[in-house]
Amino acid sequence: MNEFIPMSRPFLGKEEIDAVVAVMESGWITTGPKCQEFEEKFAEFTGAKQALTMSSGTAGMHLVLRALGIKEGDEVITPSLTFASTVNQIVLAGAKPVFADIDYDTLLINPEEVKRLISERTKAVIPVHFAGAPADMDVIEEAAGNIPIIEDAAHAIDTHYKGRHIGHKNPAVFSFHPIKNITTGEGGMVTSSDQVVIQKLKSLRFHGIERDAWKRYGKASDPTYDIIDPGFKYNMTDIQAAIGLEQLKRIAVITHKRTEIAEQYLESLSGISGLDLPGTPAFDHKHAWHLFVVKIKSMGRHDLMQRLAEKNIGYGLHFPACHTLSYVQKRFGRTELKVTEEAADKIISLPLYPGMEDEQVQRVIDAARKLLS
Ligand SMILES: Cc1ncc(COP(=O)(O)O)c(C=O)c1O
Repeated sequence: MNEFIPMSRPFLGKEEIDAVVAVMESGWITTGPKCQEFEEKFAEFTGAKQALTMSSGTAGMHLVLRALGIKEGDEVITPSLTFASTVNQIVLAGAKPVFADIDYDTLLINPEEVKRLISERTKAVIPVHFAGAPADMDVIEEAAGNIPIIEDAAHAIDTHYKGRHIGHKNPAVFSFHPIKNITTGEGGMVTSSDQVVIQKLKSLRFHGIERDAWKRYGKASDPTYDIIDPGFKYNMTDIQAAIGLEQLKRIAVITHKRTEIAEQYLESLSGISGLDLPGTPAFDHKHAWHLFVVKIKSMGRHDLMQRLAEKNIGYGLHFPACHTLSYVQKRFGRTELKVTEEAADKIISLPLYPGMEDEQVQRVIDAARKLLS
C-alpha cells in the first residue's frame, strides 16, 4: 500500500528546532524579544504600520471586534463559506452575522452582495481572502464607505492585491495554525495602521496591562501596573515567535512550492467533466495557494472521500457553510445563499503543502482523473 498523503503538513526544519532550543536556553520563554522581533518582521513583510502577535487568529478577531466596539444589535457582513471561528466571534460579540454570497469560481465574497446588504445597523464588514486569493478590496471598500473593514487574512500570508500585501491598510487577522502557510504551532497576528486600534489591542491582549511583562521583570524594572479596562490572555510565547521568524524567512520557498503544485493540478486536472477547478480573480493579484479547493460534480462528496481514503490520500472540507450551522439557523433563521449552497455541497480540498513530493502530486492527479473522469 502507498504511503498516506495528508491534506496538509507543516514545513519545518532544523532552523526552527534550533531557534526553539535557543529560546528555551535563554531563560525567557513567554512573550518577549522574539515576539517583538516577529512583529517587526511581519509588519515589514506586509507593509503594515504595526503587527501584534496573538495566541491565535480567533483571539485576534475577538479583540479587533471588541476594539471596534462591535456589540449587541450590530450587524457584521461576512461570507458564510469561511471557518466558523469568524462567525462565532461576531455572534459572541452580541452582533448578527449577515451573510454575503460568493463567486462560484473563486469562492470569494461577492462585493455586489456587500453593497446590497449594508444597512444602518452594519458596523463592520469582514471579507475573507479565501484559500489564499485576495477579495476585491477596492470594490468592497467603496461599498463599505465609512464602515470599518476587518480582513480575515487567515489564508493570506503572502497574498497580494494589486501589488501590495494584504494587511497594510485595514485591521487584518492572520493565523499560524499548523495548516497555514507559515505556522507557530498555534498563533496569530493582527496588522493595523491605526494607532488607536493597536493601542487597544495591546492592552486587551494581556489582562489590560499596558506595559510588557518582560519589561516589568527586567533588571531594576518597575513591577507595578494599573488596569483601566480588563483584558484577556491572548499573548504569543517567544517559543512560538522563534518558529514564526524562521518560517517567515522561508516564505518565498513556501509560496513557490505551493504555486508549483497548484499550477500542476490546474494543468493536469483541466477538462475533467466531473470536476470544477478553482478559478482565480481577474484583477492583479498574487495567490498564496493556501488551499486547493475543487468542486465535485460527478459523484457525492462522501463517496469521493471514501475512495480517496481507500487510496491513502487525505482531503479537507473548507468549509461547512456557516449559515447552515445549527446554532446560526436557530438564532438568526434560515438565510438563502444560492451560490454558496451550490458550491458548499461540492467542495473538497486536495492535498497541498510545500513538502509534497512530485510522486505524491502525481498520485493525487491520477486518483482524481480516474475517479472523476
Ligand atoms: C478563514 C479562517 N478564519 C479564521 C481562522 C482562525 O484562525 P486560528 O485557528 O488561528 O484561530 C481560520 C483558521 O483555520 C480560518 O481558516
